[in-house]
Amino acid sequence: MRVLCFGSLNLDYVYPVDHIVRLGETESSSGVNVNCGGKGLNQSVALARAGVPVWHAGLVGSEGQPLIDKCVQNGVNAEHVHMIEGRSGHTIIQVDKEGNNSILLFGGANMCITEEFIDEVISDFEKDDIILLQNEINLLDIIIEKAYEKGMKIVLNPSPFNESLEKCNLNKISYFILNEIEGEQMTGIKEPEGILEEMRKRYPLAKVVLTLGEEGSLYQCGKDIYRQSAYKVKAVDTTAAGDTFTGYFISAVIKGMKPEEGLDLAAKASAIAVTRQGALDSVPTIDEVSRGQTPEGV
Ligand code: RIB
Repeated sequence: MRVLCFGSLNLDYVYPVDHIVRLGETESSSGVNVNCGGKGLNQSVALARAGVPVWHAGLVGSEGQPLIDKCVQNGVNAEHVHMIEGRSGHTIIQVDKEGNNSILLFGGANMCITEEFIDEVISDFEKDDIILLQNEINLLDIIIEKAYEKGMKIVLNPSPFNESLEKCNLNKISYFILNEIEGEQMTGIKEPEGILEEMRKRYPLAKVVLTLGEEGSLYQCGKDIYRQSAYKVKAVDTTAAGDTFTGYFISAVIKGMKPEEGLDLAAKASAIAVTRQGALDSVPTIDEVSRGQTPEGV
């Protein structure tokens, strides 16, 4: 069984700020870092650092070579990452003193996926392979259709949540991994248990992981619900914490770990990620997670 992550690759322009800039306000930043990120690439790197071979598919623009290099350096297969004319996806990320962020996203090359490219990628995979998707690329609905036709198991992290998800047939999803804000956007319900109940009604065959930030996470599989607490650490930058959780949780599924073990592994990995600056550079390796390496000692 192989894992394909078909998703975004972004250059993240990260600005440390005192507070997230308010409407109409101008605020100075003390510096800027340019990091490699994108929900897709972060999740591929999380899978790879968790010890799972992963293939990434996506598009970068003419300045996107560092994103391809990051794949290679992390052991992510990049044969389906192509460079096209124009700009790569990029973000402007403000990170405040508590490690909270706000992200402005420009899709760039990520929004230039074609049906021909989708066919080329999917034809390289088999029935029962896993495809991991987020919502930072175009033609997500077509990718879901074609992956489903192929018999692949589809994992969807519906992030960021927006109207383009309405075109997708979500009955074809095997796993949803989402946070409580996306859960509310999808179901109109605020309470975590209510979100899970509604998800079970709408998608009875799908398994659902709902992350709740400092409140931990929940995993619903049929009528069973597993609960996981969050590890308490001092956050410096929460960027890619959700991506780390997603990659590590899926790695646990692939390795055949029990749900409670998978949730715990993912909680530990994302706790380490928030103690580090940056997007994919903050994702720990499986050795670091096993040794509990973090300043606070997860
Ligand atoms: O989830 C974090 C990611 O979201 C960042 O790396 C940024 O690129 C945005 O896509």
